[in-house]
Formats: sequence, structure tokens, C-alpha cells
Amino acid sequence: MKMVFLGPPGAGKGTVAAKAKDYYSIPHISTGDLFRNNIKNETELGKQVKAILASGSLVPDSITIEMVRQRIAEPDCEKGFILDGFPRTIAQADALADMVELDAVVNFVISNEEVVERLSGRRMCPSTGRIYHVKFNPPKVEGKDDETGEDLIQRDDDKPEAILHRLDVYAEQTEPLINYYREKGILKDVLTSNSMNPDKVFEATKAILK
Ligand code: AP5
Ligand code: MG
Repeated sequence: MKMVFLGPPGAGKGTVAAKAKDYYSIPHISTGDLFRNNIKNETELGKQVKAILASGSLVPDSITIEMVRQRIAEPDCEKGFILDGFPRTIAQADALADMVELDAVVNFVISNEEVVERLSGRRMCPSTGRIYHVKFNPPKVEGKDDETGEDLIQRDDDKPEAILHRLDVYAEQTEPLINYYREKGILKDVLTSNSMNPDKVFEATKAILK
């Protein structure tokens, strides 16, 4: 199954993808995680994109498309993959259409108010990328990763100014992809809210993909 997880920042793309990758036995490819790993490892790419990610703007299409092209050419993607956070512009979607034929695009729908509540409480394990929320999905021990015990961190772009900027960028550049994929007949909406826990959202996602 070749699929894209679409939705605004904080919609739960990464949270659901962490469950779906095991269920469908396909890799979870998050362009945000790929960029953050490059930043952590201080690669050339990481140096190029660090300030862009912190501000919440988009990395240029040429860089992002090339990174995804290389990743999905790897053998583990032969049977399928979950693309989380890509495409984010029409140019990226056109480039992806030249690379593969998608089976489904899951569009996670959530209100802006709930996004702000989710992102301001998000915490992340710096080495594994595992995602928590101080209220909705807390770790077993406050501030520590459940498996590695590492200190959890807050993403640079989860500061209030960056969150608002990311919502604007989403509305301008990424939201048009909803119609783009609806017209192709492969868009599937999953309505979510903070009163629906991640397991329920995953159940709804599985049901819609059947
Ligand atoms: P990226 O890492 O993709 O960030 P994003 O799209 O803004 O999405 P998030 O990761 O913030 O949210 P999510 O939907 O994964 O939600 P999560 O599951 O964590 O991109 C970061 C940056 O990289 C971009 O700004 C850009 O600079 C660059 N970039 C990436 N891709 C690019 C591209 N294609 N082109 C150009 N630039 C690109 O959940 C959020 C919180 O909510 C968590 O705390 C979680 O615990 C909680 N939560 C999840 N589900 C629920 C639930 N059901 N109920 C309650 N709380 C929940
Ligand atoms: Mg994410």
C-alpha cells in the first residue's frame, strides 16, 4: 500500500503512522523526521535547513523532492510506504505522481484551536522521534522516553510564533492538495478531535482504508 498522510501541523500524522507502519508492515517516511535527523547529525543538508525548520517555513521543493526520491527508491519501499508530511505543495505532488502511483491519501481533519493545544503540549524523544503529549499521551515517567529513558524535548517549531506561522503556511501551500487528491478520487477524510484518542483515530483510519 502506497499512501500519503495529509493534514495540518499537529493533526496526528506521525502518531497514527507509528501504529500504521507496524500494522501494514511498511516503512513510515516522515520528511520532517528526515530533516530533523540531518540537523541532529550536523550534515550539510541539516545545516541548510535548520533555520527553515525552526521558523516553520517550508524547505525548497527541489531539496525535498530529491530527498524523497532517494528514500522511496530503497528496497524496503517496494511493497509500499507511508509518506508523512510529503507532498506539501502542488509541485511536490506533481513530482511524486511521476515517481509512483498512490493507493490512498488520508486527510486528517482537525480544528486550528485543537492544533495549538496539541503542539504546545507535544514532547518528543530526540533519538527515536517517539511522540508524546503532556496531557493527551503522557510518558510513563514525566519527561522521560518510555523505552530509552532519555529526556524528552520540545521541538523548536512548537513555540507559539512558529505554530501560527506553520498554520498559515499550511493554509496557503498545502491545503490546496486536498482538492488536488479529491479530484483524483483517492482522498479519504478522517475527522479527528482531542476527545478521540490515538487508538480511535487509528481504528477510523484502518476502516477508511479497507
Ligand atoms: P513535520 O515534522 O512534518 O511537521 P508538521 O507537518 O507540522 O506536522 P507535525 O509533525 O507537527 O504534526 P503531526 O501531524 O505529525 O502530529 P503528531 O502526531 O506529532 O515538518 C516539520 C518541518 O519540516 C516543516 O515545517 C518544514 O520546515 C519541513 N518539512 C517537512 N516536510 C516538508 C515538505 N514536504 N516540504 C517542505 N518542507 C518540509 O501529534 C501532535 C501532538 O498531538 C502530539 O503531542 C500527540 O501526542 C498529540 N496527539 C496526536 N493524536 C492525538 C489525539 N488523537 N488526541 C489527542 N492528542 C493527540
Ligand atoms: Mg509529525
